[in-house]
Amino acid sequence: MSDAKIQVCHLSKQFDGKIILDDMNLKVMPGESHIVIGLSGTGKSVLLKCILGLLQADSGEVLVDGEEWCCLSESERLKRMRNIGMVFQGSALFDSLPVWENVAFVLRRQGMKKKEARDRAQEVLEKVGLPHACDKMPAELSGGMAKRVGLARAICHRPSIIFYDEPLSGLDPVMSDVITRLMRELHEEMQVTSLTIAHNMKLVRDFGDQVSMLYQGRIHLQTPASELDSQDDPIFRQFIEGRANGPLDTNNLTIKGSL
Ligand SMILES: Nc1ncnc2c1ncn2[C@@H]1O[C@H](COP(=O)(O)OP(=O)(O)O)[C@@H](O)[C@H]1O
Ligand SMILES: [Mg+2]
Repeated sequence: MSDAKIQVCHLSKQFDGKIILDDMNLKVMPGESHIVIGLSGTGKSVLLKCILGLLQADSGEVLVDGEEWCCLSESERLKRMRNIGMVFQGSALFDSLPVWENVAFVLRRQGMKKKEARDRAQEVLEKVGLPHACDKMPAELSGGMAKRVGLARAICHRPSIIFYDEPLSGLDPVMSDVITRLMRELHEEMQVTSLTIAHNMKLVRDFGDQVSMLYQGRIHLQTPASELDSQDDPIFRQFIEGRANGPLDTNNLTIKGSL
């Protein structure tokens, strides 16, 4: 049996005949912060949704703790989901709920009493540097605060795996640095396994232990984050250096026709 925390085996997914994931494989080891990078539109979010069971893959399987998720009954799968924290690309907070109810959402769904759930929400809000946010409404939060609330929500039920989909989108460089540090601190303190979708290279360097590049439906290259700069693969180099010219197929990004 594999010792990976998450193992993606021969996963394939297409939409309307367009191949997005093509027999791809990926292993995330326990306690690791693993980052998947790749051009926009290459299928990073699709990969995450397939892992979470939000999208059905055409073939292949995803093992979490050595067990296949697709074969679980719905109640088993929901039980498993409680072991998972998710930080979405936007903050995806419920506008009509105060901050603490957003943070404690999973706990309340699990039946935790209001007082206990609020106390736990307050505890994690302090951890992310928002000790006075409990009763605020999402509309009162700045972008950086909303991200912190999103992080607090992801860790509130003490998951063993956290997924992040472009966690810094919409943040300025300074706030990005603050959130990246917080993610690293939480990762170490909680000893979780993290799988992060990112294209911000500073996040990749500061938060990643392992980095995998998704390209043409597969992991084109995997490397320890500490060895990013010693990779000489031209496609990988073009991506991490942020250049428009090179062998990386950027055709789907060019503006076609007249404006
Ligand atoms: N539900 C869907 N139906 C049809 N096409 C989709 C769907 N979800 C994603 N796609 C397509 O799959 C490709 C990869 O999308 P996505 O995973 O969101 O890219 P990214 O790497 O930027 O996260 C895109 O071309 C997108 O249009
Ligand atoms: Mg995406």
